[in-house]
Amino acid sequence: MEFKGANILSVEQFSIEDIRTILRVAETMEPYALPQKKTRVLEGAILGNLFFEASTRTRLSFGAAFNRLGGSVRDVVGFQFSSMAKGESIYDTSRVISGYVDILVVRHPQEGSVLKFAQATNIPVINGGDGAGEHPTQALLDIYTVYKEKEKNFDKLNGLKIGMIGDLKHGRTVHSFSKLLSLFEDMKFIFVAPEQIQIPDKIVNQIKNAGHAVIQTDKLIEGISDVDVVYVTRMQEERFNEKENFSSYQGYYTINRQIYDKYCYPQTIIMHPLPRDSRPQSNELDNDLNNYKNLAIFRQTDNGVPVRMALFALLLGVVDKIQETESNVQWYVPS
Ligand code: CP
Repeated sequence: MEFKGANILSVEQFSIEDIRTILRVAETMEPYALPQKKTRVLEGAILGNLFFEASTRTRLSFGAAFNRLGGSVRDVVGFQFSSMAKGESIYDTSRVISGYVDILVVRHPQEGSVLKFAQATNIPVINGGDGAGEHPTQALLDIYTVYKEKEKNFDKLNGLKIGMIGDLKHGRTVHSFSKLLSLFEDMKFIFVAPEQIQIPDKIVNQIKNAGHAVIQTDKLIEGISDVDVVYVTRMQEERFNEKENFSSYQGYYTINRQIYDKYCYPQTIIMHPLPRDSRPQSNELDNDLNNYKNLAIFRQTDNGVPVRMALFALLLGVVDKIQETESNVQWYVPS
């Protein structure tokens, strides 16, 4: 795809070569993300960071990524602090804000809503999560995490066996990540969830049509015992309706050190898009794994910054200009 000026709305817009490009650029961003060096390549540019739904990682890492490139960030957090609370449409909101900023990141509770923002403006729009739809940049940082855990060997992403566990119906990270993984070859997906909250058939069919193996089960052990990656997800309480009865799924699956040691290969990586639900009655991923070397969840969150920096650099056309304004970091940075 042509990155410059593009929107990032769904992983379905990417080819395997696009993924290779994003990972390559993300690697070049690492020194600035850590930060070992600084750059001012986006000095003067402004990001509009519009979050109409709760977020910690996505909002802050998009903001940090833009700041690390030298740009400024303007945030809108929650409907109540925007004029959408007065009935303003997505179209008007997007048109107006695009007169103030150079690029938009939007998180919104309705599936398809970020596309509407993009249709109303000529600046690039990035989907930071649209309801139960997609979360494409989470999928990119997830694939970047697997790539780094696999010795930065792009070819080792082929043939991956992954168990995805939890609320696969409402979990947009699972939707995006599984579709993105299906661009690779000879993959095996094991989707572990109670039948009522299994992954949508449409996504299963897309994966199967791309030639990959798919198993759907409600048995946790089947999803964790013969895989390279265990991808745990939270039961998405905010997306359950009354009929779906969230409380009956709370705490349905828990992975802890004892279960890991008993059933997983010693090299199996544990991932989670976070937030994990650490309430005792939920606890899908126990704290007793926090210091375990194969728990990649905090490396995963760190990876959000270079990946999002890479997207900004690609969409705003400055990949080749990063080093022109490079300088050393003066402040204390822990190792
Ligand atoms: N993974 C993720 O989207 O986290 P936040 O909801 O905190 O942004």
